[in-house]
Amino acid sequence: MVSIVYFFSIVTVLLFVLLPHEATSHHHHHHGLKSIHFSLFQHETINKTGYIIVNGVAGPPVSQTTTPFGTLFAFQDPLTIKPNYTSKVVGTAQGTSITSGLDGLQSISIASITLNVKKHKGSISIVGVTHNTNPANHPVVGGTGDFLFVQGYVTSSPVNLVGLTVTYKIEFHLYWPPYASSKP
Ligand SMILES: *[C@@H]1O[C@H](CO)[C@@H](O)[C@H](O)[C@H]1NC(C)=O
Ligand SMILES: *[C@@H]1O[C@H](CO)[C@@H](O)[C@H](O)[C@H]1NC(C)=O
Repeated sequence: MVSIVYFFSIVTVLLFVLLPHEATSHHHHHHGLKSIHFSLFQHETINKTGYIIVNGVAGPPVSQTTTPFGTLFAFQDPLTIKPNYTSKVVGTAQGTSITSGLDGLQSISIASITLNVKKHKGSISIVGVTHNTNPANHPVVGGTGDFLFVQGYVTSSPVNLVGLTVTYKIEFHLYWPPYASSKP
């Protein structure tokens, strides 16, 4: 008898706690979230669009793929629609990265990416760990202009690491939350 009373009070509490949440998620599920997906190519030319500002202190020396731990790097790189850097420029990535892996291959990157694509103009801000030779995902932490309130992630993958200009493919996966449509 005690256990039955206990059971019913648990069920009552569970219904009370679960129902409002269920209603909320159901509600959101019916909203078609706006999103766009596209790829661009980032071109970085050493001592022209990207510079070492402060030398690192430990680990492997400066090479095509490594920089010493603690290296502070700043860049303003063009983004083009095709892998060839002579193709149309539709954006700019400006930011900084600090070598944060003792292997000299990983760095914390902070960047603002200005875009004029698919009738959308503005910028997105990203932050995350970049790997010099492997693909990496960077969370989108916000945006401006047509990208106000945008969330999602970008995937950065090396395309060409040989020569003075290195190229990365940047895949954008951008999602607007429901409240973005009421922007000022
Ligand atoms: C870039 O500039 C630095 C500092 O002047 C120099 O030491 C380095 O050799 C240059 N790198 C290339 C690839 O030209
Ligand atoms: C890039 O495009 C230019 C001009 O169209 C061309 O001369 C060059 O060969 C291309 N480079 C590559 C790597 O495709």
